[in-house]
Amino acid sequence: MLVRLTVLVPGGSGQLGRDLAAASGDEVDVVAPGSAELDLTRTGQVLAAVGALADRAREAGSAAVVINAAAYTAVDAAETDEERAFAVNADGPRVLAAACASRRVPLIHVSTDYVFPGDASAPYEPSDELGPRSAYGRTKAAGEDAVLGSGASSWVVRTGWLYGKSGTNFVKTMARLEASNPELSVVDDQVGGPTWTADLAAGLLELASRAATGDGPEQRVLHCTNAGSVSWCGFARAVFTQLGADPSRVKPCTTEEFPRPAPRPAYSVLSPASWKEAWLTPLRPWEDALAAYFAAE
Ligand SMILES: NC(=O)c1ccc[n+]([C@@H]2O[C@H](COP(=O)([O-])OP(=O)(O)OC[C@H]3O[C@@H](n4cnc5c(N)ncnc54)[C@H](OP(=O)(O)O)[C@@H]3O)[C@@H](O)[C@H]2O)c1
Repeated sequence: MLVRLTVLVPGGSGQLGRDLAAASGDEVDVVAPGSAELDLTRTGQVLAAVGALADRAREAGSAAVVINAAAYTAVDAAETDEERAFAVNADGPRVLAAACASRRVPLIHVSTDYVFPGDASAPYEPSDELGPRSAYGRTKAAGEDAVLGSGASSWVVRTGWLYGKSGTNFVKTMARLEASNPELSVVDDQVGGPTWTADLAAGLLELASRAATGDGPEQRVLHCTNAGSVSWCGFARAVFTQLGADPSRVKPCTTEEFPRPAPRPAYSVLSPASWKEAWLTPLRPWEDALAAYFAAE
C-alpha cells in the first residue's frame, strides 16, 4: 500500500539530514530542523516537535514517521566530552522515543558500526555482541538501548563511514589533500563499508514507508551500508581515481603511525543480510556509489 509520509528529521542540517530533506516531494513531506530549531537535549522542544509532526500528518491525511539523524558525531572530541555526547546520543533519543511512543509515531534511529569492538573477521550481524571501544561508540550503544526499550514502534539502523555533499567527511578531506599534497599516507589496517548519505537516505525512507503502514520488519536492529568493504587507504585511492589523480600517490600506513584520541575499530564491516531479509532494497556497491557521488551536481 502506498501512503503519503510526513517525516520529522532531527539533525536536518547534518550530511544525512540534508539528503533526507532533499527527498521531500509529492510522496514525502520532510521537515528537517537543525539543532538550533530542534535540540534533542531540550525535552520541551522534542515533545513540541513530535506533537507538531503528528498534527501536520493528521491534517495532510498522511502517516507520521521520525528518522533521527541527529547525533554528537565528533568521535575524538567525545573522548573528553562524553557527558555532552551522552546527552545528545543517548538521553536525547530516549526523550524522542518516549514522545514517539505517546503519539504512536514510528521512530527510525540511526546508529553506528562503532558500537562493535572491531576485532571480527567477518561482517557484523545485528545480533553480534556489542563492545564499543570509544566514548562515541558507548554513547551510541546507550542510545540504541534507550530507543529499543522505549515502547515506541522503533528500528535502529546501523551504518558506517558516511560521506555526503554537505559537511566534512573523508571524501572531501581526501579531495582537499589531493590538491595540496604530492603524496599522502592513509591507514590501511582499518576496514569498513563507505556509504553515500544519499543512498542511505533512500533506504531509510523505504523503511519509513514500511513502518508507517504497519509493515515494518520484525527485526528491530538492521544494518545498512553500501555493499562491499575497503580500508581507508583503498577508499582514498578510489577517491583519487575519481578525481583523475594517480592513486599510487596514496601510501599505506598503520593505525599506530597515525594515533588518534579515540580508538577506531580495525574491522567494522556490517553485513547486509538483515536488510535483505527484511525485503528492503540492498544498497549498491560502494565503488558505484562513490562514482555516482562524483557524477552528481
Ligand atoms: N559520519 C559517519 O561516518 C557516521 C558513521 C556511522 C553512523 N553515523 C550516524 O549517522 C547519523 C548521521 O550522521 P552524520 O554524518 O549526518 O552527522 P553530522 O553531519 O555530524 O550531523 C549531525 C547532526 O546532528 C545535529 N545535532 C548535534 N547535536 C544536536 C542536538 N543536541 N540536538 C539536535 N541535533 C543535534 C547537528 O546539528 P548542528 O549541525 O546544527 O549542530 C547535525 O545536524 C548519526 O546518528 C551518526 O551517529 C555517522
